Amino acid sequence: MLSTDPKLANSGLKFLPQSSSGSPNQELLPLTAKVNDKDALEIGGCDVTTLVKQFGSPLYILDEFSLRTAAAQYRDSFKKYYPGAAKVIYASKAWNCLAVCRIVDSEGLGIDVASGGELYTALQAGISGDNIYFHGNNKSAAELAMAIEHQCTIMVDNWQELKTLVELGRDRASFEAIKIMLRLTPGIECHTHEYIRTGQIDSKFGFGLDSLEAVFEFVSQNKELDLQGLHAHIGSQIFELQPHQDLAGVLMDWAIAAQKYDLSIKTINVGGGLGICYTETDDPPSIEDWVKTVAEAIAAACQSRNLELPELIAEPGRSLIGTACVTAYTVGGTKTVPGIRNYISIDGGMSDNPRPITYESVYRAVVANKMSAPLENKVTIAGKHCESGDILIQDGLLPRVESGDIIVIMGTGAYNYSMASNYNRLTRPAAVLVNRGEANLILQRETYDDLIRQDLLPQRLLNLPQS
Ligand code: LLP
Repeated sequence: MLSTDPKLANSGLKFLPQSSSGSPNQELLPLTAKVNDKDALEIGGCDVTTLVKQFGSPLYILDEFSLRTAAAQYRDSFKKYYPGAAKVIYASKAWNCLAVCRIVDSEGLGIDVASGGELYTALQAGISGDNIYFHGNNKSAAELAMAIEHQCTIMVDNWQELKTLVELGRDRASFEAIKIMLRLTPGIECHTHEYIRTGQIDSKFGFGLDSLEAVFEFVSQNKELDLQGLHAHIGSQIFELQPHQDLAGVLMDWAIAAQKYDLSIKTINVGGGLGICYTETDDPPSIEDWVKTVAEAIAAACQSRNLELPELIAEPGRSLIGTACVTAYTVGGTKTVPGIRNYISIDGGMSDNPRPITYESVYRAVVANKMSAPLENKVTIAGKHCESGDILIQDGLLPRVESGDIIVIMGTGAYNYSMASNYNRLTRPAAVLVNRGEANLILQRETYDDLIRQDLLPQRLLNLPQS
């Protein structure tokens, strides 16, 4: 929610949150963002310019309070609006690392992982397998075996995986059925970038509805598989509520179809997808409204079909962590192309935030050391990669900017660090967790040595004459 105070309208102050108790996904800055008497941005009680001096630049700054608030809002809203049992699991593809897994676990959330690496990290963070849900359209047998060993629930995506699971189940020394849920493609369209839409029929994920009866039959005939329930995820960065309502009916119809095969659907997982504000014109529903819609839709779909309420699971990623983090960069050079554009170059770019180049995502920025200065310059914030498309913000409004200023890009908690690369052999930034004036490093900045750690020089290359 942007400030309506006209005095604030033309400076970075307009991006400050309206209250510390709002829905984090409806703000641009973390809930604890403030401006101190040096006109500098503070997050979690820490001055951003001081954090950059202490931990270096670029720097991901994660606000623990915003993350915990979003988790609590999901958890508490399900208690309020869903009469049955409910569970929120964090889609850790948004940002998977030890500290983040630990925080969401301590809020009582489960964790969705989408690879052996994410699973390993969650386990290393001390998360119990009971609270881990394993997704993916091409899990390897080794990944599946690891998940089975830790009693995770496996979100089965396709026939190949079903067959592999049965084989793995047969090979086990002691018999214990493998907990599975079936991911289906519900055929629901929603308005978001085509790369992050997953619910439509033409999707690589999940069982098509036309194959589900055969899948039920297969599952009912293989005692190695313990079917817990059904799952669907319709896409990401969605502002509409209707597709989530429609999904409830589709899932509950298939819960009825499963009964024919003597399968009882105890759990329904509706996926994630709630969007966040990246710009002042974005207007997503609050976490509470999203949960209310989903919970009421499932309860109503059960009532009209005379079904018992299942355990209800939702697996949000972006709306839990997206707004909790900002990325701070240091301004280097600037360049004006007369009559065309003003470029500001920063010390990161598409390697720490690949979303603009991948999805044409739009971001907003403030200058952390000049929060109340008027937004009088139209500028393009360019990353430092050897790639013309490495632009984080095209024609945004900022105060007059000089070399050394600290630019903060907002809303970088989801799918930034987790999608970061070492393109041009840039070292990935550090991440710091801030809370009540304390700052703890949660990801170390990579070093040049880290970059060559996996490199090998075969002997015959070592023996080549040097120029
Ligand atoms: N569950 C499943 C099965 C998913 O595939 C996803 C996201 C989620 C939950 C969480 O969705 P969320 O609540 O975060 O919208 N890299 C893209 C987003 C890809 C989303 C992939 N799946 C981006 O940067 O926009």
